[in-house]
Amino acid sequence: VCKPALVNIADLPTPALVVDLAAFEHNVTTMGAAWPGTSLRPHVKAWKCTSLARRLHERGHVGFCCATVREIDGMLAAGLGDDLLLANQVVGVNAKRLGDVVARADGRVTVAVDSDATIDAAAAAHVEEVLVDVNVGMPRCGCAPDDAGRLADRARAAGLTVRGVMGYEGHLMMEGAATKAEKVEAAMAILLRAHEAVGGDVVSGGGTGTYATNRWVTELQAGSFALMDTDYGRLGSPFRQALHLHTTVISVGRKWAVLDAGLKAIAMDHGNPTVADGDVWFVSDEHTTYAPAEGGALPRVGDHVRVVPAHVDPTIAKHERMHLVDGEEIVDVWDIDLRHW
Ligand SMILES: Cc1ncc(COP(=O)(O)O)c(C=O)c1O
Repeated sequence: VCKPALVNIADLPTPALVVDLAAFEHNVTTMGAAWPGTSLRPHVKAWKCTSLARRLHERGHVGFCCATVREIDGMLAAGLGDDLLLANQVVGVNAKRLGDVVARADGRVTVAVDSDATIDAAAAAHVEEVLVDVNVGMPRCGCAPDDAGRLADRARAAGLTVRGVMGYEGHLMMEGAATKAEKVEAAMAILLRAHEAVGGDVVSGGGTGTYATNRWVTELQAGSFALMDTDYGRLGSPFRQALHLHTTVISVGRKWAVLDAGLKAIAMDHGNPTVADGDVWFVSDEHTTYAPAEGGALPRVGDHVRVVPAHVDPTIAKHERMHLVDGEEIVDVWDIDLRHW
């Protein structure tokens, strides 16, 4: 595919995702100082992009987390398969697909299991290595902590290598500073107890919201830190907002302006996106309506406006590419090549 010859942000058809290269580099350096090398297992699902993953790989973060078989497949095909963890459960057709993907590529793939069915599926698909996924308090995947040892025994009996445990404390990412340390410690105590029963040398967990709190895992699974969103921005971490949506004002009302980006370009599950010096009123299919902050002037039709999403992962999954910029100049274009499932 021929990439368009873009030189400046102003050349971009809108809406378009734009990444500030300096902010991205700052975020990667900051996270790498806290979690160097393979102590960071970056989560691909946040940006679904092998070009971005390669930048992290070059910094020594060579093991990655994935959430989908598609992500595993694409990372292997890109030669980024040193040590991939499918930090998610697969059964049935998807387990078979995973097995096919692993069989035809060079690379190391470990899959999370939390039940007899997912263990049997991994064994049948000839995936060789697993982590026992333990529920540490979020009602999502993960076995009951006191079942972890039994599941590990079952996996070993099925011929699988059990590398250790994972436990994602996702319910604590946005916990307030006053109570976060105590709650993360309690969640990780559950994981460490399960680890004693399971064995292996991996204790995997954590994310951008607990990168400074979680001292108990052997590897941190974090993804959003690289590009950030306004939700994580509220935590006041050192990570900078590197991603925005470049939009155009297409209509101006009495007190409001309308942008050419809406629900189909911006994920809304964490709330409205943010417009600098503006107040977003509502977002519809292809439009965002906002008003300038008190005393501010309305933009003119044709002006460009930066929109910052509240949730980075699902916003990126709606787009085909990200445009890397140094100031206003476009210096690279990264395909979001791991979209879909
Ligand atoms: C299994 C798992 N690990 C880690 C993360 C952390 O990712 P982030 O750093 O983007 O919050 C997530 C995010 O949802 C996740 O599902």
